[in-house]
Amino acid sequence: MKSPLLSATGLQKTFRRGENRFAALAGVDLEIAAGETLALVGPSGSGKSTLARVLMRLIEPDAGALRFAGENLLALTGSRLRAIRSRFQMVFQDPLAAFNPRATVERVLYDPLRIHRIAGRGERPQRIGALLERVGLADTLRGRRIHEISGGQRQRVAIARAIATGPELVVLDEAVSALDVSVRAEIMALLACLQREQNIAYLFISHDLALVRDTAHRVAVIDQGRIVETGEAKRLIAAPASAMGKALVAAAMKLPRRNGPEFLP
Ligand SMILES: Nc1ncnc2c1ncn2[C@@H]1O[C@H](COP(=O)(O)OP(=O)(O)OP(=O)(O)O)[C@@H](O)[C@H]1O
Ligand SMILES: [Mg+2]
Repeated sequence: MKSPLLSATGLQKTFRRGENRFAALAGVDLEIAAGETLALVGPSGSGKSTLARVLMRLIEPDAGALRFAGENLLALTGSRLRAIRSRFQMVFQDPLAAFNPRATVERVLYDPLRIHRIAGRGERPQRIGALLERVGLADTLRGRRIHEISGGQRQRVAIARAIATGPELVVLDEAVSALDVSVRAEIMALLACLQREQNIAYLFISHDLALVRDTAHRVAVIDQGRIVETGEAKRLIAAPASAMGKALVAAAMKLPRRNGPEFLP
C-alpha cells in the first residue's frame, strides 16, 4: 500500500469490568488507504465500535500509535486537533441517538460549518442547500425536526453532516444496519458516488457479509480486540483463513439470501 491515510499500530484499550480490567482492544494494527473502503467485521463485543472511537479520537487508547495523513494523531491537542478533526468523521447506526431529535435538519448541518469555520455566516444557508442536494434530500426538509423525518432521510442527514467538512475518511459504524433493504441499497449507492467524486475512504463496520463482499475493497476481521485477518474482500469472504473469518462466513451461509437463492457462491 502506498503511504496510508490512516495507520494504527498496537492500539490497546482496556475497560473496567467489576474488579477487573479487560482488553477491548488488545493490540490492533490497521491501515486505511485514501479512497478505499475497508470493511471491519467481527462478532458482537469484539471491539469494532471501540476501535472506531479510538480512531476518531473520541476515546483515548491506553497504548499504541495512530497516524492520520502523516500526523501523529495522539500527540495533537487544542487547535491542531480541532483542525484535523474536520478531516475524519463518523456516522452511527442510530442518528436519533447521535443528534438532538428536536433539532432541525438545518441546525444539525449548520453546526459542523460553524465549528470548523466553513464558509461565512451569510453563505451557510446556501451551503446547507448544496449538502442536502448532494445527499438527495429535498430542500424543503431543512426546517423539519430530526424526529419528524424517516430513518432513511435521517441517515442521509447524518451523511450530509459527515461530509460537510470535506473529510478524507468517514467511519460508518453499522450506519445502514437499521435500514430496510431498498433504503440500504440507496444509501450504499450514495456512499459509492461520494467516494468516486470526493475520494473519501470508508471504514465500513457491518455484520452483513453479503453487503461487505459487494461493496468493500478490503476486509479486516477482528476477534477479541485483535485483527486476525485482512485481505481483498471477495477473496477473503470466498476463502477466509482465520478461525473467526471462517466462523463468520459459515454463519452467514446459514442465512437465506435476501434476493437470491443462496448467500455465497
Ligand atoms: N465504555 C465502556 N465501558 C466498559 N466496557 C465497554 C465500554 N465500551 C465497550 N465496552 C466493552 O468492550 C467490548 C467491545 O465493545 P464494542 O462496543 O467495541 O464491540 P462491538 O464489536 O462494536 O460489538 P457490536 O457488534 O455488538 O456493536 C465489549 O465487551 C463491551 O462490553
Ligand atoms: Mg458496535
